[in-house]
Amino acid sequence: MTKGIILYQSKYGATKKYADWLVEETGFDCMETKKTTLLQLEKYDIIILGGGIYASGISGLSFLKKNIEHLKNKKIAVFCVGASPYDDTAFQQIYAHNFKKNLSGVQCFYCRGAWDENKMNFQDRTLCKMLQKAVTKKDTSAYEPWEAALMCAVGQQCDWTEKKYLKPIIEYIKG
Ligand SMILES: Cc1cc2nc3c(=O)[nH]c(=O)nc-3n(C[C@H](O)[C@H](O)[C@H](O)COP(=O)(O)O)c2cc1C
Repeated sequence: MTKGIILYQSKYGATKKYADWLVEETGFDCMETKKTTLLQLEKYDIIILGGGIYASGISGLSFLKKNIEHLKNKKIAVFCVGASPYDDTAFQQIYAHNFKKNLSGVQCFYCRGAWDENKMNFQDRTLCKMLQKAVTKKDTSAYEPWEAALMCAVGQQCDWTEKKYLKPIIEYIKG
């Protein structure tokens, strides 16, 4: 029987929520990326790795980058979780930024996450406030999708997580 595992790295819980939903859907094992070793992955045929997007980078993707040569015989899917609504151009940019060299061609999916400044640590909250200040100076028509989401979310608690984002991932691993 095909065995799979979900690896995730989540700072404020959105990616973990998607990982838990994927466990419900697939029955796969689940583990935090940073607690995983290559040896533990030997017995799996499918690996789904999820991470939050921070300043355009995908959390935990370095694990895959480091180990991809040893995982060539496995089916791999990545999902990234960000604050922006899905936008094709923005997603292509995220892909180009994160999936270079040995990672090029790896399947990646987008899931919309959450936003709560009250939950953020001091450093992240300060960074977001600085970004919001900088974006305020821009013309609204020049906002990147992620900047528009950032501006809408100021001072609010937003949770955009939805199970529908997992459909293409589940279809891919079944195919
Ligand atoms: C400092 C910081 C930087 C962020 N950068 C981005 C970004 O570049 N693009 C994006 O779509 N979302 C960005 N976000 C939003 C997070 O990706 C979003 O809150 C996501 O749900 C986090 O997932 P996690 O809680 O599983 O880590 C950022 C959030 C913080 C706090």
